[in-house]
Amino acid sequence: MDIHILSVVPELLESPLQHSIMKRAQDKGLLTVQVHHLRQWAVNEYGQVDDYQFGGGAGMVMMCEPLARAIEALSAEKPFDEIIYLTPDGERFNQQIANGLSLKERLLFICGHYKGIDERIREHFVTRELSIGDYVLSGGELAAAVITDAIGRLLPGVLNDETSALFDSFQDNLLAPPVYTRPDEFRGWKVPPVLLSGDHRKIEEWRHDQALKRTEQRRPDLMD
Ligand code: ADE
Repeated sequence: MDIHILSVVPELLESPLQHSIMKRAQDKGLLTVQVHHLRQWAVNEYGQVDDYQFGGGAGMVMMCEPLARAIEALSAEKPFDEIIYLTPDGERFNQQIANGLSLKERLLFICGHYKGIDERIREHFVTRELSIGDYVLSGGELAAAVITDAIGRLLPGVLNDETSALFDSFQDNLLAPPVYTRPDEFRGWKVPPVLLSGDHRKIEEWRHDQALKRTEQRRPDLMD
């Protein structure tokens, strides 16, 4: 899968996608992530990409021209399956959306800043708008990193059997059960005996039961 990210602060994306599982995905050639600086398509030699909003009011708006030219230049290589604008008023991102996006080949993320991007870009180029939660970030970069990570780990071959995404929280609409490692007793706190029993059927039953309890308690909305 090829992910392209358009940003005015590409530095924000340098570290989060270059370690751990995202690094492995890229090293294995299963994922490429290219971050493009929007200022390459600025309207003047000062690198301008934003301007005051019509109608007045505080805050700048990202201009049509740099965005349109950037999207067209990047699409010319090969069209995108989705052009996704990260914005707090977008559709709320979740595991189902991650699963769907992981099946695409080529995605473009547009990171907003300031007051956001000119509405005409949203109308004429953007195919999908996503939010990572009901709070406002300083820009879309961290949201793009979150979504790239959530998608990247689902690509076949990225995770091994032990870390398989099939057992993640939310994959079956349930939160993950508790996990324990050695020692089996720490400061008098014991690991549930069933996990030491070696009885795999019982262990699976216990995990499923714990997942249900945890989901009922913490996220009853998922139980519907
Ligand atoms: N940009 C600013 N806040 C955001 C959010 N919550 N989700 C996605 N993009 C954003």
